[in-house]
Amino acid sequence: MATMATLYLFIVLLLLPLPYSYADPDPLQDFCVADLKSAPSVNGFPCKLASEVTSGDFFYDGLSKEGNTTNLFGVNVNAGNVLAFPGLNTLGISMNRVDLAPGGINPPHSHPRSTESGIVIEGKLLVGFVTTGNVFYSKVLGVGEMFVVPRGLVHFQLNVGDGKALIFTAFNSQLPGAVIAPLTLFASTPSVPDDVLTRAFQVEDDVINGIKSKFGL
Ligand SMILES: *[C@@H]1O[C@H](CO)[C@@H](O)[C@H](O)[C@H]1NC(C)=O
Repeated sequence: MATMATLYLFIVLLLLPLPYSYADPDPLQDFCVADLKSAPSVNGFPCKLASEVTSGDFFYDGLSKEGNTTNLFGVNVNAGNVLAFPGLNTLGISMNRVDLAPGGINPPHSHPRSTESGIVIEGKLLVGFVTTGNVFYSKVLGVGEMFVVPRGLVHFQLNVGDGKALIFTAFNSQLPGAVIAPLTLFASTPSVPDDVLTRAFQVEDDVINGIKSKFGL
């Protein structure tokens, strides 16, 4: 009987669709420190000559300082991606530092190339995302608590604590990209036509112009 059960389990396992989740491709060598100035354009960046690689290529202190949150959203996102930290090239990971003023928001946005996880270092935040089925998941997080946002889904972090807030986020992409909903729709270059926005949001021109003016347009 035990053998039958084992066989049955084995067959079930074989029939299960294999879960896979990868973002950036795997490296084919130890490292490929990005040569950001290389002329040839490739998917990613060409490698710096190994003879020119130094310890400095594998360390980055750009996320050590508090960001300036004196802006419209009360947020500063410091992206430690391959453009800032070329040692990440081909390794499929990166991190951001997000500082939020009291009441500040990292506005609804998505990362087209990456799933995100994050951890609260300071403060209290409402963290949430919406699925492609339009279901909203959220929670208020305190220090040391983590969250995850599945790849490509629209999400935000709102500082709901009394003081400033700080989170660090991690990505399975060296360049996750960010589609920031309000800026994408209301502050693109050139502008998305007002007709598109008035129809999409079911409002009059003055509402659209009011929003655009907030972003200096
Ligand atoms: C922060 O940014 C604001 C707006 O750009 C600027 O006026 C202010 O001087 C900056 N503060 C610091 C400490 O750099």
